[in-house]
Amino acid sequence: MNSVLVASNRGPVSFTVSEDGELTMKRGGGGLVSGLSGVAKEHGVVWVCAALSDGDRIAVRRAPGGRLDHAGYATGALRMLDIPPATFHRAYNAVANSTLWFVNHLLYDTPNAPSFGTRFAREWESYRDYNGAFALALAEEAGPHARVMVQDYHLTLTPAMLRAERPDLRVAHFSHTPWAPPEYFSLLPDEVAREVLEGILGADHAGFLTDRWARAFMDCCESVLGARVDRRLRTVVHEGRATRIGVHSLGVDGHALWERACEPDVESHMAALRQQVGDRRLIVRIDRTELSKNIVRGLMAYGEFLAAHPEWHGRVVHLAFAYPSRHDLPEYREYTASVQRWAKEIEDEYATEDWDPLILNVNDDYPRSLAAYRMADVLLVNPIRDGMNLVAKEGPILSPRCALVLSREAGAAAELGPHALMVNPYDVTGTAAALHRALVMPEDERRRRGERLREAATALPPDRWLAAQLDALG
Ligand code: G6P
Repeated sequence: MNSVLVASNRGPVSFTVSEDGELTMKRGGGGLVSGLSGVAKEHGVVWVCAALSDGDRIAVRRAPGGRLDHAGYATGALRMLDIPPATFHRAYNAVANSTLWFVNHLLYDTPNAPSFGTRFAREWESYRDYNGAFALALAEEAGPHARVMVQDYHLTLTPAMLRAERPDLRVAHFSHTPWAPPEYFSLLPDEVAREVLEGILGADHAGFLTDRWARAFMDCCESVLGARVDRRLRTVVHEGRATRIGVHSLGVDGHALWERACEPDVESHMAALRQQVGDRRLIVRIDRTELSKNIVRGLMAYGEFLAAHPEWHGRVVHLAFAYPSRHDLPEYREYTASVQRWAKEIEDEYATEDWDPLILNVNDDYPRSLAAYRMADVLLVNPIRDGMNLVAKEGPILSPRCALVLSREAGAAAELGPHALMVNPYDVTGTAAALHRALVMPEDERRRRGERLREAATALPPDRWLAAQLDALG
């Protein structure tokens, strides 16, 4: 029977369906997936995820017991859940992405949102059902005393539900997001706030990317639940049960990343980009078009930098890759439009016949992103708040002389901070000044800092990150 299981909303693969009903499988997106895919296959882990697209649903329905590997796909052991679309939509879009994500990233414009009325009550009910479907599937797939690793804010209730079903299992939950301080977490209706915390405390081990998010979680347990918290030992005792709190700061497999970034498709993107920008310096950013990534203030900062430093006109280009994300949510569509408006302002103001100060790209293209990393002189990572931010870790691996401008609110700041140029993400003028400092940084300082950044970025690659959590479960 299966002894290690992973559960996450997004799985390692996704399917698209053509008009003639043909299914095509591709690798799933997102930081969590890139971190886990390789290791999960190697360790014979059973992965449980949700069907996200029409193609996924068709694939699941054709697979015996929802096991795509049993239907002959080379996915590793994978069970996909065909959760009714309306339930999925409410759980994923309304609760996970519009509520829990907003709370933990402090994204609300509080005079206007959130408001929790009867509509939310129905959405919350769907979130419970969706978490219940995962708990049930895990209970079915897990062998006796198996170890189960539940991932992220989509699945906060699953650990407690699974424990009720299968007390023999050892369960871990891992949050890939930040955690909100109690006064902000308490925007949630009281019973919802309790349920989220008690759901995670159903696990034996609750993991976070940095000490800061782990402490915020413990603060919430203390103030919302009245739980007994020992910050030194990192334990939370609630209703007679203890949950250990762990900090595992996910890093990058530098070797694998380098190998991928040296493939011919990346090289040809590099040649094309070089053609486009000539020998100008490059400021690069690579993000999902995500509210928390703070792309608009990044563009404002670049605008201020150009205004303050005419000597750089014609000598620098900002490559901003902002890939589509969560377009079912109106806030994200508006945000994308706002990114495009700001980009246009910069072009209108500064572009000349032979100089494009900004290249904004909104289409997902992994090899082109790797090419941009390799060519970067400066990497801008300025999120409002971020669980970790793997871009900040990948960049220095692929561009050894690249200076990193990093938000102090990214989880990665805990490890990379001393070797990066740190910014307050709300301080546009400060960010503009940091861009300038990064551009004029002497070559030996770039290389020295780059080496330190690379060491920190590769300290805990995904396989060791996973192993550390399994160890923590005993
Ligand atoms: C964050 C979350 C991941 C998620 C990713 C992409 O990194 O922590 O769990 O997979 O965003 O978001 P999406 O909604 O596209 O899955």
